[in-house]
Amino acid sequence: MIGFFDSGVGGLTILDAVKKRLPEIPTTYLADTEHAPYGGRSQEEILELTWQGCEELFRRGCDLVILACNTASASALRTIQQERLGKYPGKRVLGIIRPTVEALAHQGYARVIVLSTQATKHSGAFVKEFAHLDPGVQVISHACPTWVPMIEAGKTGTEELRADVEREVRSAEREAGTFDAIILGCTHYPYVKNEIAQSLTRPVPIIDQADIVAESLARYLQRHPVFT
Ligand code: DGL
Repeated sequence: MIGFFDSGVGGLTILDAVKKRLPEIPTTYLADTEHAPYGGRSQEEILELTWQGCEELFRRGCDLVILACNTASASALRTIQQERLGKYPGKRVLGIIRPTVEALAHQGYARVIVLSTQATKHSGAFVKEFAHLDPGVQVISHACPTWVPMIEAGKTGTEELRADVEREVRSAEREAGTFDAIILGCTHYPYVKNEIAQSLTRPVPIIDQADIVAESLARYLQRHPVFT
């Protein structure tokens, strides 16, 4: 069984795409709603909370855990892979930032805006992955700290959230000047994709990670059938 972890409802956007792409694979989902949102927390807190989530999913019988959360992928994945998984032979934890950037590298993008939580922006994870995989892409990181709390509070579709999305998108546009794509660097943000599209003064592609991650997982499982 493959476990999917997020602080809240965001990872469901990834899980839905995985279920469509890989309908035969058993999955389970864990949301740490008690401690959501993660985006304003320290790297140490995010690491400990994410590791608790991974251990819970291991207890539920998952050998493979997907951090369906950019904040956890940015702040906790490396330490988990390098320092914590040793005591769980045969278990694996994967993130979603590397596969996203792999799919977008060498696609002709020159300047991309990455919308994310504060912790993801602060980690520099998207900037580092693009620098490594396609240094031709300049990344403008813009944090949207109020979106996840509002989405978790059920405010999707409200005027309050729409106005906030418009404010942040306009601010990111001003910061970036020119840009040719917007990456939704938080798995909660597909819930406000329409509001983002309506706020843009110039239409550019809005890139949602869900299908990218599902495709990348399908390829991973072909290489590692032990997890299927
Ligand atoms: N869905 C998580 C992400 O992709 C979110 C965030 C949070 O808890 O702040 O970053």
